[in-house]
Amino acid sequence: MHPDIERVLLAREEIQERVRLLGTQISADYKGKEILAVGVLKGSVVFLADLLRVLTVPVEIDFIAVSSYGKASASSGVVRILKDLDRSITGRDVLLVEDIVDTGLTLNYLKEHLLSQQPAGLRVCALLDKPSRRRVPVEIDYLGFSIPDEFVVGYGLDYAGRYRNLPDICVLRREVYEGGR
Ligand code: IMP
Repeated sequence: MHPDIERVLLAREEIQERVRLLGTQISADYKGKEILAVGVLKGSVVFLADLLRVLTVPVEIDFIAVSSYGKASASSGVVRILKDLDRSITGRDVLLVEDIVDTGLTLNYLKEHLLSQQPAGLRVCALLDKPSRRRVPVEIDYLGFSIPDEFVVGYGLDYAGRYRNLPDICVLRREVYEGGR
């Protein structure tokens, strides 16, 4: 195990199984429709890549990037769009794909941003949720796992840009981010 990791919270097999079930559920709900999956860069890329391959309905993808917390691991509450969508979502069935919902500020902002462009529908799929940290209420239509208030990395999630390549979702040792949260 990586020396900065305290423990594995969700092992790769468990993640795969959950993603497979999410894919089945989403495919059933969107039967007869075409999904435009919007991944929130960069944390959602691994999840989105796996989710895509278990969807059985037609799907296109696009990406949006918002300002991250930088090196600190706590939300400043300020969300800024760094990269917007390539194409219009007006009239499309949009599935917003997030890695983790923490305070809810990012998701709340993104939902409003996307809704202002009049999609036919907008649903949210998040791999992880930390409900105890919520500052604004947000609805998650498809959720992978609800987790306790611990800083996690791996399977696309980072701390200061690192650890995204770890195949499991892991709790980062406190010493690594101490002072930054
Ligand atoms: P929110 O706006 O506070 O809900 O923050 C959501 C974003 O914060 C996520 O998309 C992640 O980029 C980041 N984040 C929150 N908690 C964690 C964590 O435990 N590990 C890695 N990134 C996190």
